[in-house]
Amino acid sequence: MSKIKNIGVFTSGGDSPGMNAAIRAVVRTGLYYDLKVTGIMRGYDGMIGGDFVPMERKSVANIIQRGGTILKTARSDEFRTKEGRKKAFEQISKLNIDALVAIGGDGTFTGANYFIDEFNIPVMGLPGTIDNDLVGTDFTIGYDTAINTVVTAVDKIRDTAESHDRLFIVEVMGRDSGLIALRTGIGVGAEFILIPETRTDLKALLDRLGKGRKSKSSKIILVAEGDDAGGAFEIANAVKSKYPTIDTRVSILGHIQRGGPPSCMDRVLASRLGVAAVEALMEGRKGEMVGVVNQKIHYTPFGNAIKHISEANPDLLKIVEILSL
Ligand code: F6P
Repeated sequence: MSKIKNIGVFTSGGDSPGMNAAIRAVVRTGLYYDLKVTGIMRGYDGMIGGDFVPMERKSVANIIQRGGTILKTARSDEFRTKEGRKKAFEQISKLNIDALVAIGGDGTFTGANYFIDEFNIPVMGLPGTIDNDLVGTDFTIGYDTAINTVVTAVDKIRDTAESHDRLFIVEVMGRDSGLIALRTGIGVGAEFILIPETRTDLKALLDRLGKGRKSKSSKIILVAEGDDAGGAFEIANAVKSKYPTIDTRVSILGHIQRGGPPSCMDRVLASRLGVAAVEALMEGRKGEMVGVVNQKIHYTPFGNAIKHISEANPDLLKIVEILSL
């Protein structure tokens, strides 16, 4: 018999498509097992401020297809302090919330770890970030939608690049991670992919650009925002100063990558993980992120989940080298 009676669910950090599907799954699973479910608005900030909403079946009707998060999200500075976490615990205690499901990324799980240590409250996490940079899941909720958004956008850019014989430098999200850039770069047939996990040799890139097939009329350089050579504008300036005759344009895709209806893959992933997180709490688990590895539910302690993935998949890097020639 589970001791848990009232689960609080919240989203925190940068939003990602599929967070609503995850909230829906948590709420409906909780109700299925006769638990009370409380929505916490704006992540840890709402917890500190006591901004709570009771969740019923209909509270999550018609949201599986919506991007963003109905619970809203924030990055909380106050929760980083011991005082802030104490306030948050007092607020959830008033409502007898005795377990939490946190949907977010590394900042969310770091905060959750402190909370568990200080107040011994069980928390399970769902990986909600477009960056796919958490250890312990093949994919995070939102990544599939984001990479499809990028591919659709760059396909359109390729059309105009081809018509005008232009070089486009397209910047995608990923402050610390090149996982969006690498996969979408392969998906759009980019000529160069620049990611923070591998050192970018700008001189070598410019040389290769000069030697590349002259018959190719359009070229795409896909750069992750966190690349060590700088963002798209820095790369464009370097290209323009060495090759003033190459007609170069920059396109920064920005927050379009975080919005839009989640893909079917993200909806299903979020639904599976939401069910698993509630069941895990009922089994007495805590302090872990629920992910899917090789098609199976997998639990990873928060401390391991947030370890930065510093190496890019060598198979994917090899594919880039072979196919972008
Ligand atoms: O969600 C993660 C992420 O997309 C990073 O790749 C990006 O650098 C960051 O969020 C930007 O988020 P914000 O605009 O909310 O600060």
